[in-house]
Amino acid sequence: MPCSRAGSVLCHVSIARWTAGAGFAASSPERLERCARLVADVAGHVADALNMAQGQYTPRTSISDVAAGCLACHGEGKRAPREAEVVGRMACTGCHEDPHNRKKR
Ligand code: HEC
Ligand code: HEC
Repeated sequence: MPCSRAGSVLCHVSIARWTAGAGFAASSPERLERCARLVADVAGHVADALNMAQGQYTPRTSISDVAAGCLACHGEGKRAPREAEVVGRMACTGCHEDPHNRKKR
């Protein structure tokens, strides 16, 4: 099974980069198998991590300063009236590198 690096947690990005690298169509049986294997690998990895972290895991309740800064305007009670309210807590700049530059975001 050919490998690729998605650089994103979004399915469509992951699939697009894999199909480009592997040379199979997005609708091919190979792509379906690749996604099934990926799901199985991720589930296995999560199970391993949970087993290793048993009794030692402290959930993080804080978010990064960068995300907190973005959410000050884009979160609940947002100050960006024309944009959707954002609920996510991930690091925003991984995907929105330069969000207020119209040409590049
Ligand atoms: C001071 C308030 C403020 C902060 C802080 C802020 N934004 Fe915005 N953002 C806005 C406003 C207002 C708009 C809408 C203006 C516009 O459409 O250009 C906007 C637009 C956007 C858009 C849509 C851009 C488009 O072209 O439609 C994205 C994506 C975005 N912000 C992400 C972020 C991210 C990520 C951060 C943190 C790195 C952030 N914002 C921080 C006020 C803010
Ligand atoms: C995994 C990638 C990813 C992360 C992380 C992410 N976003 Fe987004 N965001 C997107 C995508 C994809 C869209 C929809 C496509 C678009 O409109 O550009 C979007 C849309 C938006 C929009 C609406 C922009 C528009 O054009 O209507 C805002 C505002 C926004 N995100 C802010 C944030 C903030 C704030 C964070 C951090 C808390 C964040 N995003 C984290 C991928 C991401």
